[in-house]
Parts: sequence; structure tokens; C-alpha cells
Amino acid sequence: MVVVGLSNARAAGEFDYFEKEIRPLLHKHCYKCHSTEAEKLKGGLLLDSRRGWATGGDSGPAIVPGDPEGSLLLRAVSYADDDLQMPPKYKLADHERAALGKWVEAGAADPRDHQTEGKAEGIDLTKGREFWSFRPVTNQAVPKMNPAPGQGENLGAIDRFILARLAKEGIERVDLARPETLLRRLYFDLIGLPPTPEQIDDFLTDPSPEAYERLVDRLLGSPQFGETWGRHWLDVARFAESSGGGRSLMFKDAWRFRDYVINAFNDDKPFDQFIREQIAGDLMPAGTREQQNERFVATGFLALGPHNYELQDKELLRMEVVDEQIETVGRAFLGMTLGCARCHDHKFDPVPTDDYYALAGIFRSTQSLVPGNVSSWVARELEPEPTLKKAIEQHTGETGEANAALKAAKKELRKVEETSGKTGIIVDDLQAEKIGDWDGWHYEQTAQGSKAGLSGNLAQNGT
Ligand code: HEC
Ligand code: HEC
Repeated sequence: MVVVGLSNARAAGEFDYFEKEIRPLLHKHCYKCHSTEAEKLKGGLLLDSRRGWATGGDSGPAIVPGDPEGSLLLRAVSYADDDLQMPPKYKLADHERAALGKWVEAGAADPRDHQTEGKAEGIDLTKGREFWSFRPVTNQAVPKMNPAPGQGENLGAIDRFILARLAKEGIERVDLARPETLLRRLYFDLIGLPPTPEQIDDFLTDPSPEAYERLVDRLLGSPQFGETWGRHWLDVARFAESSGGGRSLMFKDAWRFRDYVINAFNDDKPFDQFIREQIAGDLMPAGTREQQNERFVATGFLALGPHNYELQDKELLRMEVVDEQIETVGRAFLGMTLGCARCHDHKFDPVPTDDYYALAGIFRSTQSLVPGNVSSWVARELEPEPTLKKAIEQHTGETGEANAALKAAKKELRKVEETSGKTGIIVDDLQAEKIGDWDGWHYEQTAQGSKAGLSGNLAQNGT
């Protein structure tokens, strides 16, 4: 039998699926008969705690993590057997059963460690705001250290903090890294690639005391710096070149956002500006055409992300998109999972549902979704550079003229056809000579006279 661990040492985010999909489902469909709140507990089974399903009811464990087939609970909700069908009065919707299956398959992560759970007590905003990450940033005095001679005259502030803590814990510091080790770390940190043998030689043979600083500056200034560090932001911004979340649609312009991020790192864009542009770049006044385009592209941040564009309930889809935007803004810029407050006050952070729906109102009035059978996203044209713009205008003008001429010619042709009652012919031999008039459509008897056939519909008189 699989032993269910009851430790809470799980990776952050592992319970998100449970909180979003599973807990509300169990609460809605099962707690009435399978929780401490139930008037009369049924089948001896509690589903409002992890221990509840792990111990199970009259027939033993209800869930075997990682093994959907071996889990009694999933058999019960699948209505496969006649003798145990849950909930008893109706079958769960397909997507609900699929969600339970997916959760069990992935290991049935469940944070409900207590035998029973108390009712929600609500949040204490004042107390919540005292949590360290909600307090204003303050400058901490850099610890004064007196390193031994030759052991760090060049210590930076971070080194001093580390050394002070090491001293406090009674841990001896390690030796300074050898120059080639330092160099290798520097390259990996700043551009994600190791140095070449020549670059190592150059560094080791450079006698200048500024060699290290100059190298750092050079690496910070290289295009690979933005590519390496931009990648991390692209992860935070859930960057992908297709939508996922249902039928996957291609984001054919996603590369523009990728380049925007890389350039932002390489151009040292101030972080506050970087945030504003991604949330509301289209509303920011722009000085130049390039800046305007850049800010439009930045708002791609809101359009990225997995959405089920095929969802037929359009109002739900709209709110799902809004939810995903709030969730991402919370995670990316605030380091918080705001999405939980869609259904109840946040349990740990000071975020009430009021705040969630205040934000939802803002994103709801932001047009990023184009509803349709298969919905899509709003696309805005970028302003081309003047010479290109001229060329496009000229091209549009020319094709417009050509189209108008074509339309007129077709009209003329139709007129001729109507008055002459004749269809056109295609002459593929320009040397052909016209030696008579064209006949109209007519049927001809076959040689035997037994069958009527269609032939010579453009037979020429006199041939
Ligand atoms: C209206 C009450 C009711 C609801 C709602 C309900 N159940 Fe049950 N459940 C029962 C009863 C009664 C039994 C015992 C019946 C039996 O053994 O045939 C039972 C038994 C079970 C068992 C077997 C327990 C064991 O060890 O024998 C499982 C698993 C189960 N339910 C899962 C669920 C799940 C999952 C839900 C929600 C999706 C649910 N039930 C909703 C009444 C309910
Ligand atoms: C789709 C709606 C929904 C979302 C999103 C949601 N929950 Fe819940 N949550 C519920 C429901 C329903 C309950 C059951 C309430 C009850 O038992 O009274 C619940 C209960 C809880 C409880 C039980 C404790 C208590 O006070 O009753 C915790 C803890 C919890 N949720 C945490 C979270 C976290 C963390 C997130 C975000 C990762 C989250 N929830 C997202 C619907 C949701």
C-alpha cells in the first residue's frame, strides 16, 4: 500500500491546483455527506482533510496518490460500478471528473493537514500588513567588518552582510575564489556562457587593478546580458509563442515582446517604467513613434498566457482572462497569488475579495479579448517608419487602382456577355486565325443517333 506522507514540506505552488479546482469541488459536491459539518457522516468517509481520504471510510483509503485506477473515490465518481456511485443523485460534469483524475494522478497534493478545518475567520488587514514583505523598504546599516589583511580590502556591502552573519553563527569563511573560478562564475552569471580559453588568458594576464571591473562592465554591456536575464523575465511573464489552454493558437507576434524584454535589460530601462509599460503602455504618452510602438508591444504582457479561446460561455471566458491577468500581475509584480481572492478573502496575505474585484473591474474594461466562436486577442498595428509608410501607402494606392480597373473590366465583360448571349473563349494559341463566327450552345446527336451527347458546344461554323 502506498503510504501517504503528511508532511507539509511541499514546493510553493503545488497546492494551487487543489485550491482552485479540487477544494471548491469537494465543498460543493461532497462535504454535505463527507465532512465534519455533515449532519450524518456517510460511509465513514471524511473528505475535508487529507487524513480523511487517506484513512478512508468503511472500505479503506479513498485515494491512492498517483494511481487514479486504484482510487475508490475516482471509481465512485466515474459511475463505473453499480454499487458505489458518487454523488448519489447525479454524476459530476466531465471536466470535474477529469480535474479529480488529474489531481490524483499528479500525487493528490492536499494542504489540509488538520483532521478538521475551522470555518474561515476572515483576515485581519492590520495584522497582515505587519508581515515583513508588506513593510516599507528601509536602509540597513552595513555591518562594519575588520577583515584580516589581504582578505578583502575590496569587500562590498553584500560581502559584509554575509561575513557578519557567518561570524554570528560561528562559521568560518572559505577562501576567496581563484581568479579563473571567479571569471567563470562571472561569465555564467552575466551572459550565461563560459569564457573561452582566450578570454581566460586575457583576464589572467591583465595586470591592471581595474581588470575585474572593466570585465564586468563589458559583460553587462554585451547583448547576451539581456538575452540571459531577459529569459528569466519571460518565464515570469509566462511567455510562449502559442496560447495553450485549449486549442493552441499561435501568437505570431510574440517575438516582439521577447525582443522588448531583451532590449529593456540591455538598455537599462528603469524597473518602474518596465512595469508601467507592460500593464498600461498603450495609455502612456509617448514622445516618438518608436517609443509608442515599444509601449504597444509591452502590453503584450497582458495578452500572453494560456486561455481556452474555444470556451463558449463568452462572459465566463472574459472573466477567466481577467483572472489570469490579475494572477500574473500579482505573481510577477507583487510576489503574491491574488487569484485566490476570486472566491474568498485571501487566507494569508491581506487581500480581500473587494480588492480582487476592484482590480477585475479595471482589467474587465481593458480590451484584450476578441469574442467569437474561437475567440482571439486584440491586435494593434504598429506605426511604420516614414519611408516604409510611404511605400505601403503607394502600394495600397496602386493595388486599389488596379482592383478598380479590374472591377470595371469585369463589369464591361458581363455586359458584353449579356447582350451577345455568348460565353467567352480562351485562345491559348496566339497564332490561331479566326475564320468564322462562334456558334452558341447546342446538342448534337451521336453518329448512331441513339444517344444525345454534349459536344461541340463552341463549334465553329464552317469547320
Ligand atoms: C447525499 C450524500 C452524499 C454525497 C453528496 C456524497 N456521498 Fe459519498 N457516500 C454517501 C453514502 C450514503 C455512502 C455509503 C454508501 C455505500 O457504501 O454504498 C458514500 C460512500 C462514499 C465512498 C465510499 C466510502 C467507503 O469507504 O466505503 C466514497 C469514495 C464516496 N462516497 C465519495 C464521494 C465523493 C467523492 C463525493 C462528492 C463528489 C460524494 N461521495 C458525495 C453519500 C454521499
Ligand atoms: C474557484 C474558487 C476558489 C479559489 C480560486 C480558491 N478557493 Fe479556497 N476555497 C474555496 C471554497 C469554496 C472553500 C470552502 C469554504 C468553506 O469551507 O467554507 C475554500 C476554502 C479554502 C480554505 C479552507 C480554510 C477556510 O477558511 O475555510 C483555504 C485555506 C483556502 N481555500 C485557500 C485557498 C488558496 C491559498 C487559494 C489560491 C491558491 C484558494 N483557496 C483559491 C474556493 C476557492
